[in-house]
Amino acid sequence: MGNLYVLDHPLIHHKLALLRDARTGVKEFREGVGEIAALMCYEAMRDLPTEEREVETPVARARVRVLAGKKLAIVPILRAGLGMVDPILDLVPSAKVGHIGLMRDPETHQPITYYCKLPPDVSQRRVFVLDPMLATGGSAAAAIGYLKEAGCASITMLNLIAAPEGIEVVRKAHPDVDLYVAVVDERLNENAYIVPGLGDAGDRIFGTK
Ligand code: PRP
Ligand code: URA
Repeated sequence: MGNLYVLDHPLIHHKLALLRDARTGVKEFREGVGEIAALMCYEAMRDLPTEEREVETPVARARVRVLAGKKLAIVPILRAGLGMVDPILDLVPSAKVGHIGLMRDPETHQPITYYCKLPPDVSQRRVFVLDPMLATGGSAAAAIGYLKEAGCASITMLNLIAAPEGIEVVRKAHPDVDLYVAVVDERLNENAYIVPGLGDAGDRIFGTK
């Protein structure tokens, strides 16, 4: 059974305050998304296995720990998930990157798939799915479904802001998946936007509105 982790951390709240503010411009918004993604990654990768090595420091021989075990993949949901990729790759540069392109139908709010390209050995990797927003949960559930079809067995989802409705949908559809969310907001509005949320994450990252 997967777990739900709500990070609820002062540093993250501080950065989220900037993202929520409608006056925040594209540059600051994009930087803020990246900074929170890195903080979330730090927590979500806490249980990665390590193995012992020895190195010579300038002073003595030292036992050190390095990452071991399953290799990693990160899979942003396009477009907004792209804002989380580079800061995470800075931390785990050998991770492979897959892309899943989904857009919500404006009427039905159901996800429409327009792209899916995954690393060929993705099923052998521990996969982190990235998307700043978890609203109805339709996009996240669909993306996780594609990864399972590709044979992935170890999947973790990272969202900055989640609605309770979306958390329920993902946990019901994929009870085995760990879910890391920075904060849980109140609800969805009639347009399936998160309230209070931060608006359209993709538009704010790429300046398309
Ligand atoms: C946003 C967001 C998620 C999705 C969340 O993407 O980045 O992918 O909506 O909504 P859901 O939980 O109801 O599926 P959007 O479809 O607006 O595409 P974009 O990132 O290209 O703007
Ligand atoms: N997608 C967004 O970018 N924001 C929302 O509030 C809901 C879906």
